[in-house]
Parts: sequence; C-alpha cells; structure tokens
Amino acid sequence: MNNYQEHSLDILSTILDSAYEGIVVVNESAEIIHFNDAYSRFTGIKKAEALGQHVTKIIENTRLHNVLESGIPERGSLQIINGQEMIVHRIPIRKDGRVIAVIGMLIFEGVSELYKILEKHQQTDRKSIIHSNNLVIPEEKRKITLEKIIGKSDKIAQTKQLARKAAKTLATVLITGESGTGKELFAQSIHHLSPYCDGPFISVNCAAIPDHLLESELFGYEDGAFTGARKGGKPGKFELAHEGTLFLDEIGDMPLSMQSKILRVLQEKEGIRVGGVKPYRTNTRIITATNKAIEQMVQQGTFREDLYYRLNIIRLHIPPLRERKEDIPLLLSYYIEEICQKYNISTKQLTNKALVQLLSYEWPGNIRELVNIVERMISLVEKKEISASDVSLLFNQTSITLQPSYPMVEKLEIDKQTSTIFLELKAEKKLEEREIITNALKETNGNKAKAARKLGIHRSTLYDKLKQFNL
Ligand SMILES: Nc1ncnc2c1ncn2[C@@H]1O[C@H](COP(=O)(O)OP(=O)(O)O)[C@@H](O)[C@H]1O
Ligand SMILES: [Mg+2]
Repeated sequence: MNNYQEHSLDILSTILDSAYEGIVVVNESAEIIHFNDAYSRFTGIKKAEALGQHVTKIIENTRLHNVLESGIPERGSLQIINGQEMIVHRIPIRKDGRVIAVIGMLIFEGVSELYKILEKHQQTDRKSIIHSNNLVIPEEKRKITLEKIIGKSDKIAQTKQLARKAAKTLATVLITGESGTGKELFAQSIHHLSPYCDGPFISVNCAAIPDHLLESELFGYEDGAFTGARKGGKPGKFELAHEGTLFLDEIGDMPLSMQSKILRVLQEKEGIRVGGVKPYRTNTRIITATNKAIEQMVQQGTFREDLYYRLNIIRLHIPPLRERKEDIPLLLSYYIEEICQKYNISTKQLTNKALVQLLSYEWPGNIRELVNIVERMISLVEKKEISASDVSLLFNQTSITLQPSYPMVEKLEIDKQTSTIFLELKAEKKLEEREIITNALKETNGNKAKAARKLGIHRSTLYDKLKQFNL
C-alpha cells in the first residue's frame, strides 16, 4: 500500500469513528474491516476483537453476509441486538459491477423513538382533523397512490375503481387474494384516498405476532402489566391508529379469543390496555386482508361470523397475476426501470423471447415473486439485454419450470401505452393457430375474455383473429 492510500484510510477511519451511527464495514469475505467507536460502545465489543473476524461471529442477527451475496441493499430493516429492536441499513458497495464490500449502519433512534415520534405526529393530526371539517383530499396525494398500482387489465381497473369508492367512506374493507397480489398496496392506497389520509396508517401482521403478545400489541399495556413489560407501558395499535387506518393483515390467522376482543372494539370504539382500567377512545378505519378462504372458516367455526360481517362491509378481491397476464409486460418494465434506477445502472431490456417465457409462467407468488425475479435478473445479468436463456437459468436455480406454452411465437411487440401484446406466429404454425384459438375457446366455454387471457393476448387481438379465421 502506498503512502497516499494509507493516509486516506486513516482519514476514513477518523471520519467513521466520529459518526454518531454505529458503522461496520465487511470485505468480500464478510470479514470486518471497519468497526467504529459508536458500534463498539453499543455492543461492548472492542474494535480489536471485531476486526478481521467473520461478521456472523461478532454481530447478532447480522445479514451483511447475505447482502454481500445478493447485492441488494436493505434499508430500514429491524435487527435485534442486545435485546433491543434496532433500525439498520445494509448497503452494498460495487466496483466494476461486483460487490466488494457492505456497509452496515445502526441507527440509534430505535423503534421506541419512532413510536414517540409517531405519537407526537398523531396528536398534531388529531388537532388538524378536529379543526378542519374539510375532508377534501389534495390532488397530489391521490396521484401518488394510484400510480403505485400498475396494471391496465379490466380486472385491475375494476378493482381500483371499487377501491376508490371504498376509500371515500369509513366503512371496513376486507381485501382477499393470494399472497403477493398487492393487498397491502391496496390498503395503503385506500388510506391515502380516505378522509383519514392525514392520520397514521398502522399495519399489523396478525400471523407474525405470537398469540400471547397479540393483545398487548393491539391494545397496548400499562406499566408493570407483565414481567418484561417496558417501563411506562406501551400504546397499542388501536391507540396509535386513532383517526387513521389500522390494517390487520392475515386476519384469518387471528385466534378466536382475540376475534371477540376485536369485535368489541369495533362495536364500542373503545379499547383497554392490558393491565389498565380506563378505556381509551379509538376512531379508526379498519382494513383487513387474508389469503385464506374466510367464508369457509366461518362455516367451519374457526372465524366468528359476527366479526366476519363487520369486516366484510366492502369486499375487494385482488385477482392473481395469471388471470391478468396483460399486466405482466407493464409490471416488468416498471420494475426493471425502478430497480435499475435504484442501483444506479442504465436500464436493461428484455428480449422478446425472454418476455414470452415470462408471460408463459403462472406466477404462483404473484407480483411479489415478479419483483423478486426482476431484482435477481438485474443483479445477475450484466449485459444490457436479458435473454431467454438468462431467464431459464434463473428459473432453474429456483427449480421452477417454465411452461413452454408459446412455442408458436416468432415475434412479439408491446405497445407500452396500452400494454397490448402483438404476437406474430411462425409461418408453419399459422395453421395451428386456428386450432389453438378454437381450443382456448372450448376450454373457457366460449368466454372470449378468458380465452384471450389464457393465450396471453389482448382481447382486441383475439377479436381480430376470430374475424380472420371466421370463427
Ligand atoms: N399492481 C401492482 N403494481 C405494482 N406493484 C405491485 C402491485 N401489486 C403488488 N405490488 C408489489 O408487490 C409486492 C407484494 O405486494 P403486497 O401488497 O405486499 O401483497 P400481499 O399483501 O397481497 O401479499 C409489493 O412489493 C408491492 O409493492
Ligand atoms: Mg401482505
């Protein structure tokens, strides 16, 4: 190492040590190469002990080695260190396209600080709601939420329209749909378009919280309510979501005992903290979501019927991606662009064949899976163009096989404005085309919209073909 390099490393260490946040840097082998004073103070681990060690040996619940591998930054994640929930950022450093190091940042304004900020924020919100009876929603808020939901298929357009109507009321909304279809995204959009848009949006994943903690999470607890309870108590989600929206995700996983408690809050608009006596008032818009067949659960007696009726005032069903394949090209191009921008690389293109392959896939994980696949494509493919073989390789790694249901496609074009897909068939396959279309119509009992979807083509394209073949 020359003098100049050594000098700049010294400067870097000094800067890192004077930072208020805890900072740790690992090299390509996930060994710690920087460990600043703040990190050392917080963990009680001496710098000399940490340097040169594999990060998993030094830091609890670390994921820096995972980020080294994936190359995907993780911002604002929760990590439990020394028994405390901390907010961390994990940022990969690239050189010539390769990840050469990862920086981990530990933000000391931890979760409890965030709760405090949230509470403060809410109080001002409450005041502003009380002082203005004006429930008009500013135009820019409306735009942000609708832009986030990509898709021009009839199904998604109808769902968005219903969501827009639902948002204007304060009625409960039950969102159903498979995992990864965008239920949370819809819940957020409804909140942002609702009269409570200036209030908080509080999301609780009922399936992720152990049963015995659910009550104190939802309703809060008083000082000394149980051993290990935080001093001064803790507000519950119903309190935090006052004059805002409470989103109860995976409501189908809510134990029966909690179901009756929730029913009571909905009826009385009052909640009581665990260990508390005085009820608090809660005016909250409730949105729930589940990927379970909730009607069946009601029949089987695992979900309370009375609660079901309370939650199901407005029902929003989000169709799976395979039922709206027209949306796939739009989603792909949106996420390719977004992710490339995030990583600061010039945007990549899919070849037509690659797109055909992705269209033929059934997407059991829906849009969440699509986003993951795009992230992986971007981080694994270095070329500007992502080819069909890149796609196959990616899917082989996850041991999913693509259905070669488009063997007859030679050329494919997409009109990005309308998301219409134009397919050109191989000459020798033209004769088969009539048969394929006839079959698709047979399988869907003559339902043209369904047949078009099955074929992955736009309805208008199907109508043209029907005319062409006198069908
Ligand atoms: N229509 C959509 N347009 C753009 N992104 C979407 C859409 N639907 C879902 N997503 C994205 O897919 C992921 C999963 O969505 P999410 O709302 O968490 O699904 P769910 O709650 O149904 O499991 C999120 O990253 C979300 O932003
Ligand atoms: Mg979800």
